Amino acid sequence: MNAYLQLLFNKKSFQNSLLFILALAIAPLAFSQTSATAPVDDAAVRERANLLLKQMTLEEKIGQLSQLFDFGKEKAIDDAVSKGQLGSLLFVTDPAEINRLQHLAVEHTRLHIPLIFGFDVIHGFRTIFPVPIAMAASWDPSTATKAQTIAAKEARAVGIDWTFAPMLDIARDPRWGRIVEGAGEDPYLGSAMAAGQVRGFQGDYIGAPDHILACMKHFAGYGAAIGGRDYDETYLPETLLQNVYLKPFHAAVKAGIGSAMSAYLDLNDVPATGNRWLLHDVLRDEWKFTGFVVSDANSVKSLQNHGYAQDVYEAGLDAFKAGVNMEMAIGFTAFSKSLAAALEKNQISAQQIEDAARPILEMKIRLGLFEHPYVDEARSREILATPEHRTAARLAAERTAVLLRNQDAFLPLKKDAYKKIAVIGPLADSQVDTLGSWVFQHDLAETVTVLAGLRHKLSAQADLSYAPGVQISRKFPSFFDEIFHLKPQPVWTPEQSKDEMSKAVDLARSSDLTILILGEAQNMSGEAASRESLDLPGQEENLLESVAATGKPVVLVLFNGRPLNVQWAAQHIPAILDAWYPGTQGGNAVANLLFGDAVPGGKLPITWPRDVGQVPIYYAHNTTQAPQNQGKRYWDEESTPLYPFGYGLSYSKFTFSNLRLSRNEIKPGETIDVSVDLENIGVTSADEVAQLYIHQQYGSTSRPVRELKGFERVTLAAHEKKTLHFSLGNDELTSWSTAKKAWVEEPATFDVWAGADSTAKLHANFAITQ
Ligand code: BGC
Repeated sequence: MNAYLQLLFNKKSFQNSLLFILALAIAPLAFSQTSATAPVDDAAVRERANLLLKQMTLEEKIGQLSQLFDFGKEKAIDDAVSKGQLGSLLFVTDPAEINRLQHLAVEHTRLHIPLIFGFDVIHGFRTIFPVPIAMAASWDPSTATKAQTIAAKEARAVGIDWTFAPMLDIARDPRWGRIVEGAGEDPYLGSAMAAGQVRGFQGDYIGAPDHILACMKHFAGYGAAIGGRDYDETYLPETLLQNVYLKPFHAAVKAGIGSAMSAYLDLNDVPATGNRWLLHDVLRDEWKFTGFVVSDANSVKSLQNHGYAQDVYEAGLDAFKAGVNMEMAIGFTAFSKSLAAALEKNQISAQQIEDAARPILEMKIRLGLFEHPYVDEARSREILATPEHRTAARLAAERTAVLLRNQDAFLPLKKDAYKKIAVIGPLADSQVDTLGSWVFQHDLAETVTVLAGLRHKLSAQADLSYAPGVQISRKFPSFFDEIFHLKPQPVWTPEQSKDEMSKAVDLARSSDLTILILGEAQNMSGEAASRESLDLPGQEENLLESVAATGKPVVLVLFNGRPLNVQWAAQHIPAILDAWYPGTQGGNAVANLLFGDAVPGGKLPITWPRDVGQVPIYYAHNTTQAPQNQGKRYWDEESTPLYPFGYGLSYSKFTFSNLRLSRNEIKPGETIDVSVDLENIGVTSADEVAQLYIHQQYGSTSRPVRELKGFERVTLAAHEKKTLHFSLGNDELTSWSTAKKAWVEEPATFDVWAGADSTAKLHANFAITQ
């Protein structure tokens, strides 16, 4: 008996003889598929799934298509699992409970098919990394890969096999709360971050040890919700869909992602969850996606709310026919109310049900769940406590911060220059707000706030005092507050508010330096967290201006998941550091950055408007009939942003020079090599992100004034110079032409720019000739 069978035989769960027979049948296959070194064999996986399907009843097949939220030990869920009526559960995170439920699935059901446990592992599991928009600000996909590798390892250790991430929605309207969950406004950067995250979550192949299945969401167009209002409809013309909004999803498919989530939204009058064009024509026919599609939570039943389905029966049927494989639902699924009856009425075929279930079974096989359905609880505790994970979180937070302003090299601060330091702001000592949204398994006690980080760094040199100054809260509470177990703070009376403001301003006045931490609380950003203003919430602006009025030096640190209106600060506060929601080690990272133990090198993954009235504003807008006054479209305000896409300062200075193209003319399909010299002309070793933009000057459709087509984050020592290389080929030069209804690489003249942000001046051009 080989080692694998020995293992099976020893397992208590396999003492059941039926199971043993099944195990024997699958053993040789299973062994080769789950070995750490061997990539999975597609044909063998398919065969094994088909073998199972042959033995499954209709009810069992429909069971595989069903996923329910499990918020606690519910008898109804136990019963459904024991009867094989569920293929997956989400929101169970306790390894002991996962094992208990898995035992029900594996030992109580006829065919012993394990459950797949899903969860929102968005920017960390126990170790919380900076929020996804911050990760995009690193302009370094390998930072995202490292973070999601750790997130996957921690999640898998407790028995979670599948994450509902990465979110790949392009978002160009910062009023939309979920902009924090994505990579910002640009399809090129978004695609690179998508691939980096898929690689982190899934590893080299689906089923790689310590990795989990990734799920790209929300397919598609959710980020363009009208008015930035979460869940509202989206109207996206074909050009934008193809050239912008679908791009990161396609990149994730190319990177081998195993699952996709259909979005809540109504896209061009067809809700995404019932949208066969999206879920079938694009995803399967065009992109050859072979994984499975899960609906967003309750989005199948919601087809009724959209006015797209008459009743729950039709909702289930519509979603199924559109291409949803698994329905995520609370309480019960529409599939359980419709699919069996629809089969009876010949509205769908038995083959269609098998085709829907097959990719789910295949993923369970690939993930090795049949062989290793249970987790080792002791090991899980060890993995969650790994100190290196916290170090990685700090490094990520340092890499993601963006230095927005640094007048007269105000930063970095000298450690011994200030004896008395005031740390002010409602977010300065709030652990939960240091983490951001979509965190559930974090440990608050080990979350380092900015105040704690500064104390840790400066305890010997300076006297640090803290005052919150103001309280901030949502006008309408978030339904997530309950899920996050957020206890409502006792609200200050008007007298207390006045008092607290005075205390903070007095503290600033009596200190040598104030570090203000302002921005949005974590529940102001994320799902159901859209807003109509981008102003600093509550009385924060008042606090900022009053503290600045003391005349004492002030540094502003922002916590945010979206650009905020910081126009006043951008003129009056010498230094502004955007820390986003920096995660578990956020406070240590911010302290390192402010005091020069780390150098900021992040860049904005989104255009930063002056005010909400400019929204939507993004760099890759189309050429117009009056380009000369593009910055003067409004009579009352510049129409340029406060900070452009790609922008971010450093403690050092860089120059770009010598932009060279290998050729001035190419034919379609050929490639041009682009090189540029980058030099650190400062005295500090630091990072710069070299960015390459192009513009197709004319063609069958009008093209954006600039499009990012290459970037590289580089570390250069003081005075170091390096030549960077990019290439422009078919992938970069092809776009969707609505006029031609096709992907085209057209003969035209192209501009090329290289530099430090989307306003780069260094220019060259080339032509594509027929
Ligand atoms: C969100 C998804 C999430 C799901 C499960 C939904 O409300 O839109 O992004 O994955 O819940 O938590």
